[in-house]
Amino acid sequence: MAKASKAFVCQACGAVSARWSGKCAACGEWNSIIEETAAPSGPPALVAIRGGKGRAASFEGLGTETRDAPRLPTGMAEFDRVLGGGLVPGSAVLVGGDPGIGKSTLLLQAAAALATSGAPVIYLSGEEAPAQVRMRAARLGLSQAPVALGTETNLANIIATLSKAKAPALIVIDSVQTLWSEGLEAAPGTISQLRGCASALVSYAKASGSTLVLVGHVTKDGQIAGPKVIEHVVDTVLYFEGQSGHQFRILRAVKNRFGPTDEIGVFEMRYEGLQQVENPSALFLSDRDQGAPGTAVFAGMEGTRPILVEIQALVAPSLLSMPRRAVVGWDPNRLAMLIAVLEARCGTRLGAQDVYLNVAGGLKLGDPAADLAAAAALLSSFTGRPAPEDTVYFGEVSLTGAVRAVGHMDQRLKEATKLGFTRGVVPAACVPDRQLQEIRLMPLSQLSDLVAWFGPPERD
Ligand code: TYD
Ligand code: MG
Repeated sequence: MAKASKAFVCQACGAVSARWSGKCAACGEWNSIIEETAAPSGPPALVAIRGGKGRAASFEGLGTETRDAPRLPTGMAEFDRVLGGGLVPGSAVLVGGDPGIGKSTLLLQAAAALATSGAPVIYLSGEEAPAQVRMRAARLGLSQAPVALGTETNLANIIATLSKAKAPALIVIDSVQTLWSEGLEAAPGTISQLRGCASALVSYAKASGSTLVLVGHVTKDGQIAGPKVIEHVVDTVLYFEGQSGHQFRILRAVKNRFGPTDEIGVFEMRYEGLQQVENPSALFLSDRDQGAPGTAVFAGMEGTRPILVEIQALVAPSLLSMPRRAVVGWDPNRLAMLIAVLEARCGTRLGAQDVYLNVAGGLKLGDPAADLAAAAALLSSFTGRPAPEDTVYFGEVSLTGAVRAVGHMDQRLKEATKLGFTRGVVPAACVPDRQLQEIRLMPLSQLSDLVAWFGPPERD
């Protein structure tokens, strides 16, 4: 048998190095390198050749069977939407997120909904005692749901338990970082344990047809390995995000072998659990500061769904030699680019100003069409003139200062009309020949047109 070798593995990115160091050379994380024992085997190919074992693999054509993957809806519509229509039997889903964001609550609710519809469900909680989970279930009003609750964290025991009975429809492991296997000579929570246990359970799910849901904590300090290192093992990766202090939670697909990855599910964390939000725009716009300068409403798209959200900006003279730029919910590089375009192409002097930008409600915007709305919020704060309350904005801004066309114009405007907006500031290239619905359009071809529309800064 080959000798077990030692290796130093970064718990944040999985990079392996020969000696310990304080900072990982691959990802730049500090204090994330831990000594682990690599499995005592050579490369599998060599083992197979030496041992003369292995059997001929069979092949299939691409066109043999073209059925859609069967779906098992959990009954939580927002969760099913992000999954692409429900759980796929035999697949593995990873749900990542910061500690305390509501992963256990979400999965207990989904597990209970599925169990109530008659499907056998197992929920293994390695982090909380059964009494704690029961208390949460009581708070959520789910005590009667026929979920089989356990606290096992040993991989061999879990597999043995699962193999004894008929395979359940759904297995939830909360969290994957508490799992451990005696066969792996590393501490629980390390990369070797995480990868080994996750792939064993994924193989079980594939073979048995159960759906496996793994909960993974996102960690900042690297003491336990983060869920990133098992993203390649599973079929679907969902992240549950939100800002602390905000009650909105957003479930986002970042990888999905069975559905789209740009869909989001919106929830509200209440005392009695997560509530699904069917009309996110109304919620995101519910507490607008109307009439104050520095806000603009963006008509965005998240996946197939239009979502209206308020963008807030504060532009104020800076006392620092390097003015501050801070942004929540948007890409800081995108903000830097927009400020540069406003300076260079439109003559708006933001160089000596602190600039803060915030997307209300804790949403993270990925849609490039947010440029125009962000520019409107910045200009409104800079000039001291409130943007008209009944107006929505969308459009992409290029480095030349041109306003570029974006997709889904009709859907964005329809959502805006539904919420009572009467005017849209949009890319000129988007405006069709026919005049649209009840909304008045103001087509822009250059960002400087928007600057002119706001006028020069008000003096006081
Ligand atoms: P939890 O699901 O335990 O988070 P995670 O598993 O991601 O660590 O949820 C933690 C927070 O949610 C906790 O701080 C309290 C809050 N919460 C509610 O506001 N309402 C509820 O009904 C529940 C169960 C939790
Ligand atoms: Mg939890």
